[in-house]
Amino acid sequence: MFELAEDRERLLPLLLLADEDETVVCSYIDEGELFAIRDGDQDIGVLLLTAEGNVVEIKNLALDEEHQGKGLGREAVEFAKRRARELGAERLVVGTADAARDTVAFHEHVGFRRTGIRAGFFDAYPTEIWIDGVKARDMVMFEMEL
Ligand SMILES: CC(C)(COP(=O)(O)OP(=O)(O)OC[C@H]1O[C@@H](n2cnc3c(N)ncnc32)[C@H](O)[C@@H]1OP(=O)(O)O)[C@@H](O)C(=O)NCCC(=O)NCCS
Repeated sequence: MFELAEDRERLLPLLLLADEDETVVCSYIDEGELFAIRDGDQDIGVLLLTAEGNVVEIKNLALDEEHQGKGLGREAVEFAKRRARELGAERLVVGTADAARDTVAFHEHVGFRRTGIRAGFFDAYPTEIWIDGVKARDMVMFEMEL
């Protein structure tokens, strides 16, 4: 179900679901390990993991709309935990826009705890990001011990 992707460009539309600025996504699309989340021969989601020292970061996690809310996001986080442990990491981290209330709730629900705020992170984006009528400005950082 989680397949290491060689052709990364093919997954761009899915990566843009979690991070809507194409310039930003393209700046990291070749980093780390990019997994296609597959249902048969169909790409239904993406998971991009990067490693630095003893920390693995979920850089991007997205499922297409049809496959959201069915437990696959939780499965992807479990997969990320296993993979991060294999890579020798001690912590798994992820960041999301403060304005993305659903995504913040999802991360708390699957076991992450807030560790801080990167103030003004989204102010540096080339285009403004609006989520449910709220302008994204800060990035909420989460982590879990592995
Ligand atoms: C965010 C996303 C990855 C979550 O995946 P998902 O498959 O929809 O979530 P799941 O169904 O696995 O939910 C996992 C748990 O979180 C809970 N949860 C999800 N959204 C929630 C919310 N808004 N409030 C409270 N709990 C929530 C679920 O109830 C579920 O709990 P349970 O396992 O105890 O039943 C997915 O919705 C998505 O791809 N969204 C668009 C892209 C995006 O915003 N990505 C995040 C960037 S980091």
